[in-house]
Amino acid sequence: MAVSSKLTGAVLLTLVAAALLHFFTRKLQQTSPETQPRQCVMSPPETQPRQCVMSPDRRFDCGRDRVLSRGACEQRACCYSPLTNSSRAPWCFYPHGYPGYTMAGLTPTHRGQAATLTRDKPSYLPGDVPTLHLQETRESAGCLRLTLKDPWARRYEVDLPSGVPQGKAAAQDALYAVKYQTEPFGFVVTRKSNGRVLMNTTVAPLLFSDQYLQLSTSLASSLVSGLGEHYTSLILDLNWTSLTLWNRDMAPHAHANLYGSHPFYMVQEEDGLAHGVFLLNSNAIEVILQPLPALTWVSTGGILDLYIFMGPDPQTVLRQYLQVIGYPMMPPYWSLGFHLCRWGYTSTNVTRRVVQRMHDANLPMDVQWNDLDYAAKSRVFTFDPVRFKDIKDMAEEFHQKGLKYILILDPGISTTSPPGTYQPFDDGLKRDVFIKNATGHLLIGKVWPGPTAFPDFTNPETRHWWEDCIRTFYAQVPVDGLWIDMNEPSSFVSGSLEGCPDTDVENPPYTPRVIGGRLNSGTLCMSAQQKLSTHYNLHNMYGLTEAFATYSALVKVRRKRPFVLSRSSFPSIGRFSGVWTGDVRSDWEQLRYSIPSVLGFSLLGAPLVGADICGFQGNTTEELCTRWMQLGAFYPFMRNHNDRQYASQEPYVFGQKAQAAMRIALNLRYSLLPFLYTLFHHAHTSGDAVARPLFMEFPADPNSQIIDRQFLWGSSLLISPVLEEGAVEVLAYLPPCTWYSLHNLFVIYPLIRVSLFIAKVSSWFCQLL
Ligand code: GLC
Repeated sequence: MAVSSKLTGAVLLTLVAAALLHFFTRKLQQTSPETQPRQCVMSPPETQPRQCVMSPDRRFDCGRDRVLSRGACEQRACCYSPLTNSSRAPWCFYPHGYPGYTMAGLTPTHRGQAATLTRDKPSYLPGDVPTLHLQETRESAGCLRLTLKDPWARRYEVDLPSGVPQGKAAAQDALYAVKYQTEPFGFVVTRKSNGRVLMNTTVAPLLFSDQYLQLSTSLASSLVSGLGEHYTSLILDLNWTSLTLWNRDMAPHAHANLYGSHPFYMVQEEDGLAHGVFLLNSNAIEVILQPLPALTWVSTGGILDLYIFMGPDPQTVLRQYLQVIGYPMMPPYWSLGFHLCRWGYTSTNVTRRVVQRMHDANLPMDVQWNDLDYAAKSRVFTFDPVRFKDIKDMAEEFHQKGLKYILILDPGISTTSPPGTYQPFDDGLKRDVFIKNATGHLLIGKVWPGPTAFPDFTNPETRHWWEDCIRTFYAQVPVDGLWIDMNEPSSFVSGSLEGCPDTDVENPPYTPRVIGGRLNSGTLCMSAQQKLSTHYNLHNMYGLTEAFATYSALVKVRRKRPFVLSRSSFPSIGRFSGVWTGDVRSDWEQLRYSIPSVLGFSLLGAPLVGADICGFQGNTTEELCTRWMQLGAFYPFMRNHNDRQYASQEPYVFGQKAQAAMRIALNLRYSLLPFLYTLFHHAHTSGDAVARPLFMEFPADPNSQIIDRQFLWGSSLLISPVLEEGAVEVLAYLPPCTWYSLHNLFVIYPLIRVSLFIAKVSSWFCQLL
């Protein structure tokens, strides 16, 4: 196709897409619950005390911790006013001016100011913290930090490895202004340049008790992203939804807490500006979103440590966030190639055949993986003596072919091997590296090998032991990277084999909505003891601490830039590891939602991310797998991975036409690797995103704000994949710009944006474009 006709086509497509988008956006605005009059059966306003009269959207739930009757609600001095079933607004809500903390005078500090907050009357929660210390710190011109903690008793605080030093700024240079309301305490953060209110916490009372911390704020717009890891669109649903941050081994589906927890959100403001907010807290958190628009943080512990990033554009917000949590690691070049994996490559010979068949089919790949099949009785750091007896030879053969080799490691260490036969456990026991239960004995859970102990990676000795295990392992099989799985940590019994004691951390006064209903569902007891604190406080950081230990061990053992892939994540994970989006199903919906998942991790500082291509659970189809390979060729991390009981999905198992389409997708990726590698360099050195949502590059374009079926690599490569079964065309939106088809490669030169239509095709497995 000639360039000009293609361009004409593109322009037409753009116009149609823009018109459609505009139409749908208007339609959405017209019907969104924010603007729709609600049908309420509220008592007539005159029977309500004045301070209770407010529109349902303005209500902040006074009974988050339990469902309240009218009597119980009024006992809390809250307003009670039932609504029809169609409204999701709370019936029991705070009146205007509900008592909270009172702030005494502010005193200047080195880079900000401080104050003491006190509450005269107790709240309705057990374990009130009656006095709080407020510290406002100017981290830089674009980053404000506000910390609230108990000045008298030391509470658990997250200690992240230090980020990137930020330039100091004088008060007059700050992009923000903060105003305080002294009684009841609240603060308002505005953008100095235009006076826009970015946060206003006076909308509801601050609560700070031992196991329940709550802070609400208005939001500057309804365009909120972040707060991963969830199975959602890129823009979060603010219609009275809640998102729980509690790491859990859970196949991705809607309304569930998944493998990672990231208490960070970004808001797109009007005029293309943006800001972000990070709550540095690793306890179980529930975030309640309501259409005002507003947001409420509820955490079950720790302190309130808030960072507010002023941007003023989305990319700068991300950079400011990454300056706090650290810039992402630089992945090895080979790790950007194609990876092939399956649970069920049951021997070295089976694995060799896979590699051979990829080669014979002329399909490029860089990395072959083995899942837990390699380990004797699923015990990590061991090898099946029959089926994987020549694993070292196989790894070396792969190396000779120019391939890399990766193996899985789960954290659970089997406890049932006879003494003297399983060194990781014997040695770990001696060195006291495992998590203990509340009575100081080994906590035993259950994972693939049966009963297991869990290393405590917050203990420096555990990190040394882990390094020793990896060194011994590496001497037996020269792996090029490690895949750390099941590290939420996942356990097939909740708590431990012996259950958990009946204590406050096991049964907190409030449990966020988690899969399984209890914090210990599918994981360890909350009272389990780690070196730094209880598992109650540290649970969400288990994967991060393991990733850090694994990354550091690989640096020491291999003396090369490491590759680590982790399932569980927390802020900073990108410094040490890539992530994948877990056990996705082989279906079209999961293909489509893999884009917001990948973009979500980009916004959270973990740019090396991908979904299991063709789906992990369930049988894929030729069409789905072809489309998934085409999309996956543009995941920053590209791996086809499959569960053991489902139909094979290596590219070579499909018909010639599908293979041809996959080959083209793979070759296209390989031809773009220098570009991708360069993007990772910018991520690593400047905190730029690799895969980017359109709004990041076109913040002033209203049509780009919500798009999550397309995405960019860097600033200028637009990917518009086919995501529907049977589709042979894509309706793609091209933001205002000059666009060129990537397939006329000669037109690529700096500053020209390149649009890639993956599938403007006449039949579904035809060639790309
Ligand atoms: C978990 C992982 C999956 C892996 C399996 C067996 O389900 O998410 O990727 O294949 O465990 O190790």
